[in-house]
Amino acid sequence: MAGRGNFSNRLGFILAAAGSAVGLGNIWKFPFEVEAGGGAAFVVLYLIFCFLLCFPVMVTEIAIGRKTNKNAVGAFNALGYNKWNIIGKMGIIGGVVILSFYNVVAGWALGYFFEMAQGNFSVGKEFGSYVSNVSTTGIYALIFMVFTAYVVSRGVSSGIEKGAKILMPSLIVMILALLAYSLTLPNAMTGVKYYLVPEFSELNLKTIGGALRQSFFSLSLGMGTIITYGSYLSKKENIITSSVSVTLFDVGIAFLAGLMLFPLVAYSTGGDMSNIQGGAGLIFAALPSVFESLGAGLGTVLGAFFFLLLSFAALTSTVSLLE
Ligand code: ALA
Repeated sequence: MAGRGNFSNRLGFILAAAGSAVGLGNIWKFPFEVEAGGGAAFVVLYLIFCFLLCFPVMVTEIAIGRKTNKNAVGAFNALGYNKWNIIGKMGIIGGVVILSFYNVVAGWALGYFFEMAQGNFSVGKEFGSYVSNVSTTGIYALIFMVFTAYVVSRGVSSGIEKGAKILMPSLIVMILALLAYSLTLPNAMTGVKYYLVPEFSELNLKTIGGALRQSFFSLSLGMGTIITYGSYLSKKENIITSSVSVTLFDVGIAFLAGLMLFPLVAYSTGGDMSNIQGGAGLIFAALPSVFESLGAGLGTVLGAFFFLLLSFAALTSTVSLLE
């Protein structure tokens, strides 16, 4: 949107847009969608949708924003398609709805960071009551919202871009470190097989719908954010290369997050992949006991590290949704 400044260069845009895309969707939601979708066959569909459907949509959203220098609604008006600004309005409503639940889950991640840092691993077993405790989760959600508002209030290049430049590389280092560790655990290969060897008999309309939903959600498409970030991209930058980088970044992180998580889950279930606790609690309920089993010292460090990583990833996405 005019008046908010621009990203300083293509890297700044790529990191900020990848920061928008990479978030709870990759680390929290993707693994439980994979579990609900029956494993690797879902992953294959997700990759196909990301590259064949979402990539062209990403190019289009960036181009609309960049060409008009306007937000998701103003962009359609500026292009002379006032009637179609309903698409932008739906995106903004979608973004507001997503931010409202997203911020709550981001608050859980922040809360779990503090619990893990204190060695309170039993929080996983009490996941249901933990998240129903509105006074605790409400405070964390509020803290998260304040962080988000602070970054947005600093503007495009010294807020959003600077935040992404610090948070995104830290996130990659954290994921790779945890991934390397998770692959050394007993039953890790059972988790890897579950994640990577497709059983196409598991596919049905529900899984296809789930993969489609996940790919758009994960790439932050249809929620106004990429059009808005596109409006801060300088006219001299190449939209296709920027979109390729953002798509690869997002898909790569989702893929690595799954590769990191399923060995941890397989370790926690003793290799029985039919016995996974699915849904929103997949990482919140299962992982604390994994960290506990690693012993108080290492478990505390890795547990706190993991939930800090999740909070970082969430922050760069809440920033884009608020923007
Ligand atoms: N694209 C964001 C995510 O995946 C919303 O978390």
